[in-house]
Amino acid sequence: MKPKDRTAHNGRHSAEFQPYGTVVHRAISLDDRVRSSACERLNQILADTITLRDMYKKHHWQVSGPAFYQLHLLFDKHFGEQSELVDELAERIQTLGGVAIAMAHDVAETTHIERPPRGRENPNTQLFRLLQAHEQIIAETREAAEWAAKAGDHGTNDLLISNVLRTNEFQVWFITEQLASAGVEGRESEEAAEMAASGHRRVHNA
Ligand SMILES: [Fe+2]
Repeated sequence: MKPKDRTAHNGRHSAEFQPYGTVVHRAISLDDRVRSSACERLNQILADTITLRDMYKKHHWQVSGPAFYQLHLLFDKHFGEQSELVDELAERIQTLGGVAIAMAHDVAETTHIERPPRGRENPNTQLFRLLQAHEQIIAETREAAEWAAKAGDHGTNDLLISNVLRTNEFQVWFITEQLASAGVEGRESEEAAEMAASGHRRVHNA
């Protein structure tokens, strides 16, 4: 079955403009509806991953304090790994016949990750923001991976589990240890995360 409003023409039209949210045919033995739904879920995770990637670069540039050098390096390492995920997610969407979200304007309208201030925040607030963004992406990724497995889209499931989920979980470990080494754990970190989310600029002295 091909839902008309979600499926662009294929064949001779494939080189022409393809609207966002549509899928063209791919001979990969996956129903159009499955590919369309997979692309929608992947685009949400892509928009959030682009946002997290850019948050890592913001923090790489703006970090300060006693742990400046190690955080400066760690944030850029995670930026690079998130950049690889961005490319893999976008190319999975194109592989499925969809259109990957790309431009900052469109990403900003789509992402579920809260917008940080333009200004420079203290390192612990930066770390809390990163944890919140990771957790958002991890939750979306698990849900989408389960859906993909049930729908028979095992390629998408594999990408989401092997690459997106595991990379994000691994990075959460490092960010959490950075907070622990700053003496911020448990309930204290939850309160600080709430303050960070509500826009307070200073949570703890780093
Ligand atoms: Fe740099």
